[in-house]
Amino acid sequence: MCGIVGYIGNREAYPIVIQGLKRLEYRGYDSAGVALFDGTQLKVCKTKGKVADLEKLATTEISTNGNIAIGHTRWATHGVPNDINAHPHYSNSGDLVIIHNGIIENYDALRKELTSRGYTFKSDTDTEVLINLIEDVKKKENVKLGKAVQIALNQVIGAYAIAVFDKNKPDEIVIARLGSPLAVGIGENEFFIASDASPFLEYTKNAVYLEDEEMAIIRLGKAIKVRKIKDDSLVVPYVQELQMNLEQIEKGGYPHFMLKEIFEQPNAIKDTYRGRLLVKEGIIRMAGIDDNLERFLNANRIIIVACGTSWHAGLVAEYIFEDLARIPVEVEYASEFRYRNPVITDKDVVIAISQSGETADTLAAIKLAKSHGAFVFGVCNVVGSSIARETHAGAYTHAGPEIGVASTKAFTTQITVLTLIALKLAKNKGSISKSDFHYHLQELELIPEKVTKALQSDEHIKTVADIYKNAKNCLYLGRGYNFPVALEGALKLKEISYIHAEGYPAAEMKHGPIALIDEQMPIVVIATKKGHYEKVVSNIEEIRARKGKIIGIVTEGDTNVKQLADHVIEVPETLESLSPLLTTIPLQLLSYHIAVMLGKNVDQPRNLAKSVTVE
Ligand code: F6R
Repeated sequence: MCGIVGYIGNREAYPIVIQGLKRLEYRGYDSAGVALFDGTQLKVCKTKGKVADLEKLATTEISTNGNIAIGHTRWATHGVPNDINAHPHYSNSGDLVIIHNGIIENYDALRKELTSRGYTFKSDTDTEVLINLIEDVKKKENVKLGKAVQIALNQVIGAYAIAVFDKNKPDEIVIARLGSPLAVGIGENEFFIASDASPFLEYTKNAVYLEDEEMAIIRLGKAIKVRKIKDDSLVVPYVQELQMNLEQIEKGGYPHFMLKEIFEQPNAIKDTYRGRLLVKEGIIRMAGIDDNLERFLNANRIIIVACGTSWHAGLVAEYIFEDLARIPVEVEYASEFRYRNPVITDKDVVIAISQSGETADTLAAIKLAKSHGAFVFGVCNVVGSSIARETHAGAYTHAGPEIGVASTKAFTTQITVLTLIALKLAKNKGSISKSDFHYHLQELELIPEKVTKALQSDEHIKTVADIYKNAKNCLYLGRGYNFPVALEGALKLKEISYIHAEGYPAAEMKHGPIALIDEQMPIVVIATKKGHYEKVVSNIEEIRARKGKIIGIVTEGDTNVKQLADHVIEVPETLESLSPLLTTIPLQLLSYHIAVMLGKNVDQPRNLAKSVTVE
């Protein structure tokens, strides 16, 4: 949802900003730009397209020397993706320059007001309105840039992470955040600014994350100064040491981040349960749950809020919580929940699931739940993210950075965390027998090994992908715990290959989707041994009778479905409740290979962004 980067220090700023933009390209990639002060002049270079296009243009259009620069990679909100709407944007005088991630909701009124006072606009963006508002305030009030930014932001409604500098004062950058993330890397007499810490990992491990409604003035030779935008009060910045390393954010020999992340799942799941799942001791240790056990055990119900893939993980969790812990669960799209005046009480526990921890709808749902007195627990991957900070307590998934826009390891690690929570609550409630509890712990511990085994079908899945890569539609069916996996499989296929796909509970097929089935239609059916196996086999028979092409996801050694299906892909046997952790793997690989064969941009599918910080 737009990535922003900045540098001020003694190094050449341009290569740092370009490298940083490449790392943030997952956030948006319809246009890119950079503004750089070369010692005498302010230069802006921007273009529709990717950071690589910007690089080509910059080498011919501008001198790339200078020690202060800001850069932007865009996911359009206002104004189509083109060269003019790309960031950075100048103010009318040409002195000020800005990059922005977010949306200024009252931009139209502000634009009219500024136009009436003689300001003109080249682009259709809300960002150009903001930089001119800042310029207007600076002139009218005769104040420094920092003050002008603060006064202007107090007139703005919306969300933003911004970086602004003045070519007449090229030793400082002013930054601010509300609703969109912003981190500052602190080096020796140099500062880095970015939407997340990945652009500056090789330079410094010390970072300050701005909180909502905070701004900072970053001046060479001075310590970072953080203030509240509303009342100007000073805030003592909390400098945290980053745990991420460079290797984690690079492709490590894989052609795409998505494939790397699919293959990382055995380790990612292990990292998720490390230190929490103590099989020998027969316990699950999770501080966020231990410290709030009574809230969970006395909850009337659990409401899960999330979007996209995280919502699918929530659906799997609904089965686990109700099945094992016997707590009623509702799973809600955060975007619907936040606007439908839901009944929430202080006896509810809300679990918010989010890989990025920045999804605007999920964040808003959390705030709404909190305002009604509910206890809110976060399941996030990104440490220090907005959702992690906004919730009362939480558990990180520890999956490591997920760069591919299509979520893979985030999904399986979210399910792992949610399974741990459900098991812990079940044990404390006494809704699971001692032996069953222990069996679950043992089986969960074995999952990484079994995921590794499931990944060994990669070559076989590639041959299946080759057969169906030109399909126009695809159906995914599953039952029980594997119904959400069918939804997730369909989402993966459509988002990266642009093939229309739908996920359905297998038994619902006869209530409509069956009309779609003909000899052209591939149907992926999750038909593992545990969980409604016979019933799903009957569905397979129904598909066969209508000549649909069947790709069965089956338990190792299954011979029954093999006789009925056109292809089978095996996964190791496990408990039904843990089966989504395995059945998801072939569906991820199938989508991946189809998208690669179709020549699609797997890591950066069209129109999507990794972190959706606008509603
Ligand atoms: C799908 C995908 C999206 C996200 C959704 C929520 O592959 O990546 O559907 O799952 O935007 O994002 P988070 O989990 O960051 O809140």
